[in-house]
Amino acid sequence: MNDAVMNEAVVNEEAFARARAAGRRLGRVLALSLGLGIAPLGSAEESLDLVAVMADMQRFAHKIQLSLDAENLRLADFYAHELEAAVARASSIDSYGDYPVGRLSASTLKPLMLQLGTAIDSGELPRANTAFDQLLSGCNSCHQLTEHDYIRLQRNAVNPYLQSFAPLR
Ligand code: HEC
Repeated sequence: MNDAVMNEAVVNEEAFARARAAGRRLGRVLALSLGLGIAPLGSAEESLDLVAVMADMQRFAHKIQLSLDAENLRLADFYAHELEAAVARASSIDSYGDYPVGRLSASTLKPLMLQLGTAIDSGELPRANTAFDQLLSGCNSCHQLTEHDYIRLQRNAVNPYLQSFAPLR
């Protein structure tokens, strides 16, 4: 891990500690509303949404990588926008178990997505590749923070899709 990513992880960790404290306060409010006979928010639905949005993010991130591997920045840009929309959906999820995944997704991924978008727009492939690697590190650092460190994203050059990633000639 390079220094920038390490620093980011530290910053995220601090944000996470604050978010957890806020989560505990929310937990008490929920316990209180339960006591009053008010139905709690549907956490089962939230977790379904989360795992679905994670699967979307994985697919779009992989397609960005395959586009970059094929030196197809135009296609990478398309998938970066799809990924951005998925990140926005993840960011709107309140909580998952103990974790404020929405806030964490926003704080971890939005700056990295912005950086990736700028790198792709620059037309410089090495820069786009570096930004993509940093994005994957961001995914993995949140998996560590949320006790899902066994879900490890890494580049995979195999194309499992019914799709050519080569640029149009
Ligand atoms: C909020 C922190 C957080 C961020 C940021 C995050 N994840 Fe996740 N991810 C989770 C959690 C929590 C789970 C477990 C969800 C569950 O248990 O249902 C998960 C699960 C997954 C899974 C397993 C689901 C499956 O379909 O196999 C994949 C893949 C995944 N994430 C990909 C990504 C990718 C790709 C990124 C970055 C673009 C990312 N995640 C960013 C927290 C995060």
